[in-house]
Amino acid sequence: MPVDAVLGLQWGDEGKGKIVDFLANQYQAVCRFQGGPNAGHTLYLEGEKCVLHTLPSGIFRSNVLNLIGNGVVIDPITLVGEMERVRHHAPDLNERLFVSERAHLILPTHRWIDMASEQARGQEKIGSTLRGIGPCYMDKTGRNGLRAGELRMPSLRASYQALKEKHLQFLKQFPKIDFDLDAEERRWFEAVDHLMSLRFVNSPYWMASLLDKGANLLAEGAQGTMLDVDQGTYPYVTSSNTIAAGISTGLGIAPSSLRRIVGIAKAYCTRVGAGPFPSELEDETGERLRKAGNEFGSTTGRPRRCGWMDLVQLRYACLINGVTDLCITKIDVLNGFDEVGLADAYIDAEGNGTQEMPMDPATLRGVSVTKLPGWNWTPSKVGGLEQLPDAMRHFIEMLCKGAGVPISMLSFGPEREHLLTDL
Ligand code: IMP
Repeated sequence: MPVDAVLGLQWGDEGKGKIVDFLANQYQAVCRFQGGPNAGHTLYLEGEKCVLHTLPSGIFRSNVLNLIGNGVVIDPITLVGEMERVRHHAPDLNERLFVSERAHLILPTHRWIDMASEQARGQEKIGSTLRGIGPCYMDKTGRNGLRAGELRMPSLRASYQALKEKHLQFLKQFPKIDFDLDAEERRWFEAVDHLMSLRFVNSPYWMASLLDKGANLLAEGAQGTMLDVDQGTYPYVTSSNTIAAGISTGLGIAPSSLRRIVGIAKAYCTRVGAGPFPSELEDETGERLRKAGNEFGSTTGRPRRCGWMDLVQLRYACLINGVTDLCITKIDVLNGFDEVGLADAYIDAEGNGTQEMPMDPATLRGVSVTKLPGWNWTPSKVGGLEQLPDAMRHFIEMLCKGAGVPISMLSFGPEREHLLTDL
């Protein structure tokens, strides 16, 4: 049976968590395939805000299994904290959570390296969440990493010690920063003790046996397409493959298992951290979007940069992910604007219009923006797109036309019921 996917099409924070939570009931398992505690998937359950960092967003559905795939990097401290925070909404969490033995572990020294190397970059900072993500993936690809399957091996302490020593050597090149390694190490090993109660699985076989039994699985992406290490705005990206291709490597399934790819895009763009952002609005309109959309990072609390929906970027994301249908989120945030913008072409360094995402969007001279009439609409129970204001529908039509992909869902508020589906 097939694997479907939910992916972010922009720079992360598109509202994937809510959509995965909604779709989860149609699947036997939700499987996270990359990223780590840099992610912040926000869901509202009976008015209470729940932010998931490492746990898959199917965790609140009592009939759904959840897998932390091999492509994910796990910080035991964050994972244990998160499990305790959400347990009252998911009391049977331990029975439904599975962890790939091949997932890599974030050590306290990975966080230390992240902080020290970001500080050393000065003006060139990536704007990392400082969760140790980049250094952990560096150890993975450098073939030095520690994997979740090793947590149960007698060699754990020795492997930990050896990797820590390497890190301490490496850290000598950076100016000292404040980091209490002894305390962090104690917390790490305490958390590791807690994790022993989880089920560690040989995930490619775990996935295959579910698929053989006819299960439908949902792959959950973190961050967004433009933060992909290969296809994003490098070097201002995260260290994993956030795009659809990452599903196969991050879960251990054949690419041919993929069926539906739901691309999630906000009705405007945001970016947290440094790096090119062609449609950014560094003016009152950007500020207004930030306030209306409450655009502050769910992991770090940092204000997000805001800008108009970027159709060149969206089409690029649909192309490289093979998006089958779109879910547009936070359309309610555009309420009350006299005009809403759609960036529909880039202007290259020579002043020519282009529809291509360049290797480095920082080289662009600008973007061309089409302004469409805005709307005033009080979000209420709606049965279909035809009940929405004409101007809003026109905006959505132009957006889908620009993306070249049809819309299947529209989210207009944070709660589970603020969602139009089967469009
Ligand atoms: P890192 O993955 O923490 O090293 O961060 C690298 C870049 O990706 C920074 O610009 C972060 O702000 C951004 N980033 C990482 N995770 C997320 C996310 O879940 N949402 C939005 N941006 C993210």
